[in-house]
Amino acid sequence: MPKTFYLTTPIYYVNDLPHIGHIYTTVVADTIARAKRLRGFDVRFLTGTDEHGQKIDRAAKQQGITPKELADRVVGRYPPLWKAFDITNDDFIRTTEPRHHAGVHAMIARLEARGDIYKGSYGGWYCAGCEAFFPETQLVEGACPDQGHPVEWLEEESYFFRLSAYQQPLLDHYREHPEFIRPATRYNEVVRFVEMGLKDLSISRASLSWGIPWPGDAGHVVYVWLDALTNYVSALGFGSSDQALYDRWWPADLHLVGKDILRFHAVYWPAFLMSAGLPLPKQVFGHGWWLRDDRKMSKSLGNVVRPDELLARFGPDPLRYFLLREMTFGQDASFSDEGFLARYNADLANGLGNTASRVLAMARRYFDGKTPHERCTDNALLEKSREVTARYLESMDVYEFQRALEAVWELLAAVDGYVNEKAPWSLAKAEGNASPSLHRVLHNCLESLRLVAVMVSPVMPGVAARLLAQLGVVAPSLDEGALAWGGLPLDAPLGGEGALFPRVDVEAYFAEAKVETNDRPDTQKITIPAETPAAPAAATAPAAPAPESAPPVAEQVGIEDFARVKLVVGTVKLAERVPKSNKLVRMEVDLGEPQLRQIVAGIGKRYQPEELVGRQIVVVSNLKPATLMGVESRGMVLAATLPDGAPVLLAPGSEVPDGSGVK
Ligand code: MSP
Repeated sequence: MPKTFYLTTPIYYVNDLPHIGHIYTTVVADTIARAKRLRGFDVRFLTGTDEHGQKIDRAAKQQGITPKELADRVVGRYPPLWKAFDITNDDFIRTTEPRHHAGVHAMIARLEARGDIYKGSYGGWYCAGCEAFFPETQLVEGACPDQGHPVEWLEEESYFFRLSAYQQPLLDHYREHPEFIRPATRYNEVVRFVEMGLKDLSISRASLSWGIPWPGDAGHVVYVWLDALTNYVSALGFGSSDQALYDRWWPADLHLVGKDILRFHAVYWPAFLMSAGLPLPKQVFGHGWWLRDDRKMSKSLGNVVRPDELLARFGPDPLRYFLLREMTFGQDASFSDEGFLARYNADLANGLGNTASRVLAMARRYFDGKTPHERCTDNALLEKSREVTARYLESMDVYEFQRALEAVWELLAAVDGYVNEKAPWSLAKAEGNASPSLHRVLHNCLESLRLVAVMVSPVMPGVAARLLAQLGVVAPSLDEGALAWGGLPLDAPLGGEGALFPRVDVEAYFAEAKVETNDRPDTQKITIPAETPAAPAAATAPAAPAPESAPPVAEQVGIEDFARVKLVVGTVKLAERVPKSNKLVRMEVDLGEPQLRQIVAGIGKRYQPEELVGRQIVVVSNLKPATLMGVESRGMVLAATLPDGAPVLLAPGSEVPDGSGVK
């Protein structure tokens, strides 16, 4: 019976389109799933969407559609996205599915049977962003302590869960299972949090209707975190008449989550499970955050990364590689197109790509397009590869992807050094193409490349398959046996040619890029269009249901909403292009304030900086600052948009004093 491994990603909120944060966790999960399969595990990999709660309800209202319509629109984006990233999930759960409702009701029945649910009333500060209550003492400057979101006072009747009763059992569990929370720093944070004391948890909402109805009380819906966390078992049929999947896969081996939602997974979830008398997951890993230019990404800052352009241009593998190589798993890291391109050229085009094409070109030339016919079992590369594969496996087992990849790249460097030292071209010249030494030398290089391909396969599955085909390995097996020296077939035809990673001219890339990812701030209220992008029909199994389409409804605003936007006339005093951008112009504008305002605008294709200086423009002066290509913009210029998308700046009909308001 093969060993089993059940791993999960968080289920993603549907108030927003998928972005780099969602992609990251899912790519990490996919890499782990593939690496476990390589190690002989039978793997189950679950992801999905979290569709209830106040956050979704509000986002839908803002767009004039129902929460279910919003959810359907956003969920429709996931199957093509996961297909584009080569994600091999076995299931996709939506919290609006009947199987999930059944699971949540079954969970509540167990908590109730244990006597851990009672009715009371709640008054507290609620953060809709985090979908959590916070005690007044924890608020920071009147906002939620986790994310700085606004909070609102909520007072209502509620069902409670006796979380306080689980303080000691949780602490005991952490002590007995130090591997339950990873990384270790986060383990300490959670233990400290629980040691400070746990209050009973409100687990229903009376003032909200968008949720799973509370069993037997139509006046309440289930609190969205109790609802969402239960997905990990409802997707296995918990609460249904068929428990086969549940029996086979639960408890989960790994819940992968971002650090912001660790507490829900490491405190609330195990407490619910203890109360329900169900086994606890074996590990919860809280990973770090991707920052943009060292700042937190958020819709309001307009700096959320959706790497569509990079994906379209490079395919999934370089991005997957970047995400795993750049971030020390568990810590924060900064995402930038420049950082991606630097790593692409250095590690992929130069490192892996060049070494592979150098060695393959020699085999093509000397052995008539075939692999060598001699094998060598005693050489420096074999030694190195043994050490590297051991380090690679050890690092992958503890999710140190960065270290694992560093080890692989050491083997690549060793191949390069070996080629230089053995100089196969001199051997060929001196001894001819049939030389056994020449065959052995190139065998060692090609065999090392085969090992590299197997090791990178969990991270870059497409590239690994191409490289293996180029090496003449047909129907490669990606199991542990494939990591033993000697798997390269002898005298076998090499597969198709072609650079794995064509080098990128970074300057030309930025000059040509149609969309500079940081050049297009999201609107604060992102509108999710009804139509989904053209996508391949086959989705990762099983596909999420297709979205229903409904025409977007233009939202109406009251005069008081309009009055919140401060429009001001100002004169451009300085204008220059933002380096590496063909669109962005940095301006310093006199808005009648003591200091000039720095504003960055995407108008450089239509306007030369010189023609802007001295012009009066209209500016949204109270927009939250955003960083565009590393330059902070403290306002937004108003422009009309021509049919081809070109901007035409707005200006007062005649000159007015700088700082004049516009309404
Ligand atoms: N719906 C909840 C999870 C419920 S799980 C039972 C949720 N959803 S989310 O869509 O807001 O976030 C999903 C995941 O994305 C979280 O793990 C979060 O940490 C992660 N990320 C969101 N932004 C991120 C980055 N900028 N970087 C890395 N991951 C981040 O929370």
